Parts: sequence; structure tokens; C-alpha cells
Amino acid sequence: AAVEQSLGPDPSRLETKLSTSPGPSDKIKSGEVRWGTLFTNHMFEAEWHLEEGWSVPRVVPRHSIELDPAASVLHYGLEVFEGLKAHRGTKDGKIRLFRPDKNIRRMAVSCARLGLATFDQQMMLECLRRYVMIERDWVPHGRGTALYLRPTCIAIDPKLGVARSKRNLFYIIASPVGHYFQGGNCGVNLLATTKYFRSFPGGIGFCKTGANYALGIVPSEEASRLGCHQVLWLSDAKNRFVTEAGVMNFFVLFKGSKRPELVTAPLDGTILDGVVRSSILDLVRSWGTIDVSERKYSIDEVVQGIVNGQVIEAFGSGTASIITPVTGIHYQDKMYPINSETNKKITPQLLKSMQDIFYGEVDDTFSWNV
Ligand code: COI
Repeated sequence: AAVEQSLGPDPSRLETKLSTSPGPSDKIKSGEVRWGTLFTNHMFEAEWHLEEGWSVPRVVPRHSIELDPAASVLHYGLEVFEGLKAHRGTKDGKIRLFRPDKNIRRMAVSCARLGLATFDQQMMLECLRRYVMIERDWVPHGRGTALYLRPTCIAIDPKLGVARSKRNLFYIIASPVGHYFQGGNCGVNLLATTKYFRSFPGGIGFCKTGANYALGIVPSEEASRLGCHQVLWLSDAKNRFVTEAGVMNFFVLFKGSKRPELVTAPLDGTILDGVVRSSILDLVRSWGTIDVSERKYSIDEVVQGIVNGQVIEAFGSGTASIITPVTGIHYQDKMYPINSETNKKITPQLLKSMQDIFYGEVDDTFSWNV
């Protein structure tokens, strides 16, 4: 469905004030920096007002934000964010944004659900592109690294009434990153729980908003006490459909009767419409050797599949984590390891195919890079 748009923020009116502080650091290569803790020197910002529309957009030295203590974002979590990456070509050094149009569109969808800013998606994309060009020296070198971009929209009206916000601050910050999970991409265990749930029909599971991540922090700490890295979110205590894995979409590869079947949950409004998720589906469909299903499937189907050898692989996908193998699922007090012996695993193959595209090492046949 179309989302409402408004004029702006207008990239042709972009004002820039450049920072004098020191430029990029190359710490990312050595892996000594925790994911998302190092930032570039500038931020993009623009204000939106329900009646007045968009202010002139600016790129300015990164700075703290002063908010009224009654600002809606601080009380009712009225905020939306995005995560996307700029990669540096390993051969040509060229900077490519991976499917930024998908993120901009999803941001418009999230904003619409929470009654936040409307914007012109083309203009917003151009603002983002210009910001990245200003920060281009911060796009790290090397496969596995990227400049992670975090567009954010917050409601800043000082009012305690629970109602649509009239005034929003939109900004973009950027962070040079490597692996999301500490210790690299060697795989994660997941705790499938019926104690906590992430989303429900009619809720905000499809939105990229803080609440969907805040509710997972304590459960993920409980998971880590059981040797797991993330929670495997189930739909509800009765059906127990598998939905997402921590901050990732989730995929299972079943052996199938004739050919393997790659399964992930359908976009029914409770699932985040992941950009990597959707790219994986396109990619695997293009291979033509594996059936691809967006369907409901239960944790019991998965656990039984692990026990009887029908589940050959499982992995999570996300912009931050890219493609992360799942090495085991903890369910009802038992750990079910997933470790097929095959040397034809699709998880590493998918990661390689995606990275080949990110880093401009193969033809971008899907025209994903901008
Ligand atoms: C992403 O994968 O980009 C995310 O936003 C997940 C998390 C870091 C919040």
C-alpha cells in the first residue's frame, strides 16, 4: 500500500557546516572496536512539523541533542529508526549503498504506523546519499566492514498527552562497523521461549521502532545464562509459530522430500520486512534449486526436524548481522544442536554471494546497489 508523502526534506537546499575534528580512524580493521560505538564527525538533521512541513536540511558536526524533558519520545517511545550500510568496493574502492530505497520506504511505513513524519522518499534518499558522500572517508576498507547508517526520527513536542506528535527531529548518524556479534560470525544459539513475546497481530512488529528492541534486552540476558546469544521469538504460547531471532529475521533449511525447502515466516504484520531477508529470498529463488517458502511454521516442526535430521541448516539475517549461522536451539529445557555435516552448506554460500554484491566483486544483476 502507498504511504502518505510530504514535500521534503529538500536535498537541493542542504546546508553544510563541516567539522574541524580529526577524520577517520582505521580501528575497525583490527576488530578492537565494539560494534556501533565509533561514530563519524557529522550528522544529518532536519525538523518536520505536521502543518509547516520540513525545515532546511543540514549536515553539521555531530552534537548532543537538547530535548524538553516532556518530549514525547522520552515518555511514549515515539521514535522510528533504520539501519543500512555503505560498503567500499574491494576492487574499485567505490562506495555503494545497499538497497537504501527499501530502508527509506520501510521508514515511511514505520513512521505512518506511529504517526510520525511524512516525507518524500526520493528526496530523503538523496539527502542520505549526500550525507554519505560527506562522510565517505569513514567507509572502512575490507570485506566484512561497512559504514552503518542510522536514520532516526523522534517526536520532540513537549506534551504529556498521548496524541500524535506535531514536531519531529529527523537525523542520521553513521558508525564504521565490522561484525555485529563479538567473536565474529561463528554462529549463535537461540533460546525459544514462551515466556516473552515480541509482537502480535495488529501490533507494531513490522515497525523498526525502539520498543521492539527494548523488550528483548532482558530476555536476551536470560538466554545468555543458558548459553544462547539471542531469543528465538515465537508468535504466542498456543501456536508457537517461529517469527524472528533476536534482532534478525530467521530462516530454516529443511531437507524436503524432493529438494530442500528454505522457510521463513511470512510478512503478516508481526515480522520486520528485512532488507537482507528479502534479498535472500530473491537470491535463492534465482538459484532455482531450492524451494522457497514464506509460511507459518512452529517451533515443534523445527525441533522435530532437528531430531529426525530434516533440518539441515538455520540462520539469522539482518543488516547489522548480515547472515549468521544458528548452531543450536534451546527449547523446553533442552539444547538441540544444528550441525549438518554437509560441505554444501548454503549459509556460507549465501553470505559470500551477498558480500560479493556488497563489495562490488560480481555483477549486481538485481541492481541492489546505489
Ligand atoms: C539491523 O540489523 O540493522 C538492526 O537494526 C538490528 C539491531 C542492531 C538493532
